[in-house]
This record gives sequence, structure tokens and C-alpha cells, in this order.
Amino acid sequence: MKNAFPFVRTELPDWMVPVIEKVAAKMHDDATGHDLLHAVRVMELAGAIAKELGVEKEPTMTAGLLHDYYRKEEKQSGQLHYGPEAIAALRQEFGSMIAEALGKDGLEDVLAAIARHEEYYFDQDQGEDVLALPVLLQILQDADRIEAIGAVGVARTFMFGGAHGLPLAEDAEINANTWFDPGTRPKGSVHQHFYEKLLRLKDGMHTAPGRKLAEERHQFMLMFVRQLESELELESPDAVNLAR
Ligand SMILES: [Fe+2]
Repeated sequence: MKNAFPFVRTELPDWMVPVIEKVAAKMHDDATGHDLLHAVRVMELAGAIAKELGVEKEPTMTAGLLHDYYRKEEKQSGQLHYGPEAIAALRQEFGSMIAEALGKDGLEDVLAAIARHEEYYFDQDQGEDVLALPVLLQILQDADRIEAIGAVGVARTFMFGGAHGLPLAEDAEINANTWFDPGTRPKGSVHQHFYEKLLRLKDGMHTAPGRKLAEERHQFMLMFVRQLESELELESPDAVNLAR
């Protein structure tokens, strides 16, 4: 069945229709890689992973749909799109709709997952046992990261780089110790971003379906990066340890 919303391939429960209307209105013209297509894809990937794992789909789909909702405001205000202000604003704007459909605990689970979706294993001082993370958070992180790798990941990375004024590459060696920090302004080059974040994502996947999808997309992305380096005669930093 063809859905009434752009890019939406799966059937939505009735209560999500006004939610996606708001998301479409805000995100349809984004040009940073965090557009409506991204929100919808994370929603659908999260739902598909949840189904495969035999857990409730709707909370994961809701978290996927809303996880980047305040990206636009983040650029203007400097406040993080998953920070306390964004979570309070999400509660204000969508809280009653979500609580009515998923219950008060469901709403809290969705907001808690969104608040932590930008945590990366390579960004933490001390590793947390990933199995201890709530399954909703594991699914949201996996779905969002699958969207950051493969052909879609490459395309979104260049959109993000262009929107933030990053050069394609710099004539300098990739720094193996520079890891992506989601709380700081984007810096370096698009080429660097593959090493500081994207090529590391595969090893941080939590779920079996997520790992499977990530492996395939990682291999494609690695091939792309090697070809880019070959054409631009850039250093190919084999020495960078990309394993966890
Ligand atoms: Fe995202």
C-alpha cells in the first residue's frame, strides 16, 4: 500500500499520522543530511529491527521518527538536539500524543532513548556494557548508524560537510587519535569524518540484524573511501586502528 507521506513505505498506525505531519513540515527542506527521508528511514529501520527481535515496534518507530527533530534549532541556538532542552520541547510538542498511544512509561522510554542516541563507544571514557543498554536505545542507535554508512551514509556525509563548510579533504595526514565528538562543532574534512566516525560504526552495533546490515554497508563505504583516496592521491591511513 502506498502511503500518503513522501518516502514512507510502511503502514503507520493512525496515531502516528499527525506526528509524521509535523515531522514532514519541519524536516522536508533540510539540506544537512538530517531531512525527512532520514527520519523516515530510521523509523522504518528501527521498526524492522524490532520486528526481527520480537520486541514492540511502535516505541522504536516513534524514537526513530523524532530523534533528530530539533536539529534545525540546534544550529541556530547551539543547544544539542538530544540535550535536556530538546527533550523538554519534544515532551511539550508530542508528549500527550505519545503517552496516549504508548502509555506514560512508553513516552519516558522513547525520550530516554532519544536523549542517549548520540553516545558512541569510541567517545566514552569508560565503556559501558552495551548489553545493559535498554533494547529501545540499542535499536535506535543501530538504525541511526545504519543510515550513516553505505551509499546513503556517503551521500549524507557530503551533504553534512557542504552544509557545515567542511572541505572535501585536507592535504594532511589523518589523525588516528581524532574521534568524533557529537557535542562539538563539525571540523576537519569530509575525508577525516570517515575515519573519526563512519568507519568505526560497524564495530559498535548492538543487535544481530543491525550488525548484518552494517557489515555490508561498511564494505561498500570502505571501497568508496579507498577509491576517493586513490583518485585524489590522499594518504590511506591503514595504520588507523578501526577495531574496538
Ligand atoms: Fe539521525
